[in-house]
Parts: sequence; structure tokens; C-alpha cells
Amino acid sequence: MMARERLRIGMQKSGRLTEPALELLTRCGLSFRQSRDKLFCFGEGEPVDLLLVRDDDIPGLLAQGVCDVGIVGRNVLDEFQLTDAARDLAPLSELRPLGFGACRLSIAVPLEMHYSEPAQLEGQRIATSYPGLLGTWLREQRVGASVVTLSGSVEIAPRLGTADAICDLVQSGGTLAANQLHEVEVVLSSEAVLAGPSTLPVDERGDMLELLLRRLDGVIQVRESHLLQLHASGSSLDAITQLLPGGPRPTLLPVFGETD
Ligand code: PRP
Ligand code: ZN
Repeated sequence: MMARERLRIGMQKSGRLTEPALELLTRCGLSFRQSRDKLFCFGEGEPVDLLLVRDDDIPGLLAQGVCDVGIVGRNVLDEFQLTDAARDLAPLSELRPLGFGACRLSIAVPLEMHYSEPAQLEGQRIATSYPGLLGTWLREQRVGASVVTLSGSVEIAPRLGTADAICDLVQSGGTLAANQLHEVEVVLSSEAVLAGPSTLPVDERGDMLELLLRRLDGVIQVRESHLLQLHASGSSLDAITQLLPGGPRPTLLPVFGETD
């Protein structure tokens, strides 16, 4: 990989994380030339550029050094770390949780199944796009189930008869409800994170990354103190969620220690 002087951030090209991620970077004082639908966005003030890609590709691009840091869901990052491909590459770490894009990777079963414990999944077929994370959870629970890996449309597998249960991302719960499934176990609590190699590059990019991390900490701290003030003053959840990148998000609730 050729030496670069500019820090390159990989992020989702279009999806739930795109708008809030751009807003966060803007709050960190960064601005970019070129429209968002282009693959590459050149940073105007600071030597920081964006590469807009599929979220699932971000960990690989980081591990190969094509991007220096990335904004990606913890679910995507952790799943990548468990793949064979990751084993021979530089380990990645979660540099900062970013406080938006909250969701969870959960196991869901058909409504008619009366679920009470993981042992009931013994011998069942579970469809997922997260075989690494699901496999790890099943081993921890000492449950022998067969993992059916699908790249998409996981939620329809039980109705098609190709699986008995699923393990998929849940945000609002709308997808599960629409498919007559109910959530029974949380395998991973996720949100957007800043991911990167465990050691910073020792050059201009490393310096820029340090500056970016300081600014991010400042932005996140200000946001959290505003949230706490609003919460203490009894403001409505609506008013509070306006402060989050990406606007209203019901998944903000866990910030206040409430369970869902
Ligand atoms: C996820 C997941 C579900 C849906 C859940 O897909 O696979 O289909 O979101 O969200 P809900 O609980 O609010 O209905 P996403 O749209 O992120 O796309 P992808 O998994 O195909 O990348
Ligand atoms: Zn995806």
C-alpha cells in the first residue's frame, strides 16, 4: 500500500448510517467536495477524505489499509473479525462508539412458538447473515443448532420452511412483526462505531486521526451533556432525540438506562 498523507474514512454509501455519520463529521469541522452519490469525497479544509462504500465492505477495506478508519455498525465489524478472511489480516478495533444507529442482533422465532430458554433451539435451523456472531453465541450457550447462512431476506426463511428461527438485526421491530416473528434473545447490542487498526499510523494520517478523535470526543460529550440536561429538566423524548444525528430514534431509550 502506497504511503498516503491524507486520512481516508470509509463509510456507508447509502443506508441508515449515512446521514448521521455525515452530520457527525460536519460537527467535527470537516467538509467535503463532491456529491454524496460519488464514491470518493475530497475533504476541503482538513486532509481527510471519504470513501463511500457498502457497509459490509468497510472492515475489509480497513484491514487491507485502503481506508484508515471507518464508520460502521459494531455488528458488521464484529462479524468480520470472526471470518477466516480476517484471521490473516491486521486486527481491527473499535476506536469510539458513536451514539447513533442503535440496533441489536437478535434471535427471533415464529409467534406460535412458546420460547423460554436457549435449549429450545437445540437441533433447530437458524437463518442469519451473521454466522460468526451466531455461532459464537450458540457455543457459549452450549446449544447445537444448524446455522443457515443467507445474504439477505433472512426474515422470510421460517415462512419458506428453510429455517425454524432467524438471527437478524432489529431496530424498530417492524420487520419482525410484519413476518409474524418475535424477538427472544439478544446476541449483540450494536450501534455505529469508529473502527480502525489497533495501532495508529505513525505519519500525518496518525496526527490527523488524533485530532479527529479529540474533536469526536468533544462533539459526543457536548451531545451527552445536552441529553442529560434535557432529561433532567423533563423534556419530551422528541426534543431530546432532535439532538441526535439522524433525528428522532426510538432506540435512544437505552441511553437513559431503560430496558427495551
Ligand atoms: C435490517 C434487518 C432487518 C431490518 C430490521 O436490514 O436485516 O431487515 O433492518 O429493522 P426494523 O426492526 O426497524 O424493521 P437493513 O435495512 O439494515 O438492511 P441490510 O441488513 O440488508 O443491510
Ligand atoms: Zn448491510
